[in-house]
Amino acid sequence: MLAPTVLDWAVADVSRVPYRAYTDPGLYRRELERLFYRGHWNYAGLACEIPNPGDYRTTWIGERSVIMVRDHDGTINVVENHCAHRGVRFCRASHGNARDFVCPYHQWNYDLKGNLVGVPFRRGVKTVEDGKARVQGGMPPDFRLEDHGLNRLRVETLNGLVFASFDDDVEPLRDAIGPKVLPWVERVFDGRALTLLGYSRQRIPGNWKLMQENIKDPYHPGLLHTWFVTFGLWRADQRSQMVLDQHGRHAVMISRRNDGGRADVTQGVTSFKENLTLNDARLLDVVPEPWWNGPTVTMITLFPSLIIQQQVNSLSTRHIVPRGPGVFDFVWTHFGFADDTPEMTQRRLRQANLFGPAGFVSADDGEVVEMSQQGFAQDPDGRTISALGGHGVGDADHMVTETLIRGMVAYWRRVMEV
Ligand code: FES
Ligand code: FE2
Repeated sequence: MLAPTVLDWAVADVSRVPYRAYTDPGLYRRELERLFYRGHWNYAGLACEIPNPGDYRTTWIGERSVIMVRDHDGTINVVENHCAHRGVRFCRASHGNARDFVCPYHQWNYDLKGNLVGVPFRRGVKTVEDGKARVQGGMPPDFRLEDHGLNRLRVETLNGLVFASFDDDVEPLRDAIGPKVLPWVERVFDGRALTLLGYSRQRIPGNWKLMQENIKDPYHPGLLHTWFVTFGLWRADQRSQMVLDQHGRHAVMISRRNDGGRADVTQGVTSFKENLTLNDARLLDVVPEPWWNGPTVTMITLFPSLIIQQQVNSLSTRHIVPRGPGVFDFVWTHFGFADDTPEMTQRRLRQANLFGPAGFVSADDGEVVEMSQQGFAQDPDGRTISALGGHGVGDADHMVTETLIRGMVAYWRRVMEV
């Protein structure tokens, strides 16, 4: 394994991050080991993606392919997608329904818990030669099926969200989310049945942490995003709250929409387009829902791999799948609630046009993440600055701060020991 670069980071200042933190291959390998494969829960999917026994979906934890599958008794298992025999990543479909899993290479057969249940020619092949029966080959007597199942991950669900971990010693999911962030997760996922509305996915040429930082960054939305600043969905003059978990790794940005139009905070902002209007006003046909209880937007980052978005009536999970130090896949799962009216489902789908790879808002984020990575690559000794709101880490009651980014950086430094 590559030894990580030792970062020149002597000052105890989490508001300056060396560019190498986003580009170094050795650090990236260590991130996979310490953040994705050990000590943390990772997002696996939504339970509503696999409603029936045998339904499965392949997904990723870090760079490892896993299968989330509904067992015959209704529970959800997550197993690693490589065969115990010769390592084949046997499941190639993105989703489907299976009675069991069969590896194509030598037909080893696994049940929905990942137990090995069948091995062709395990007891050899019987032949008759010159009138004499004979058994050829087969597995040795000490071969036991129970020793050769698929890697099985720990799984916990939270009102329809499914998380998994390769680490048997990971703390319980609710403790890992923590008492400050959990109520915000449970505000969206309060136990109501969910419905799957669809996916979008994209590959972004940037370091995976940049997407976490983007959703811990309340500074940019009212500056970068024409849509937000012009139509008032997110602006610096809104009532807001920034919340961190006890470790600084997870966060919530909470805010309440105002009316849009010109205001002090739009003065001189080039992305503010006073004359911009919509050809189809239904894109902003916002209907408040009782469960909002005030905020019109909550953006939750669960470290390391999940973002939960509520922006007015649009809801999605966004899954970060790292693919190397300078690239990640970003998978959006749009959802609603089983008791939504058909009109509300249509509204959620229309508002989903703000998000995803070509979203009126989110296309901007994909671009700036890519542009950040380009800047890091050209000057390896450079550093970022995240000093808005000071150098410390703590909750805030406004959005003129980069405290949430500093919280994650401080946590990252501790766990990564750089
Ligand atoms: Fe899977 Fe041989 S590699 S059965
Ligand atoms: Fe953004």
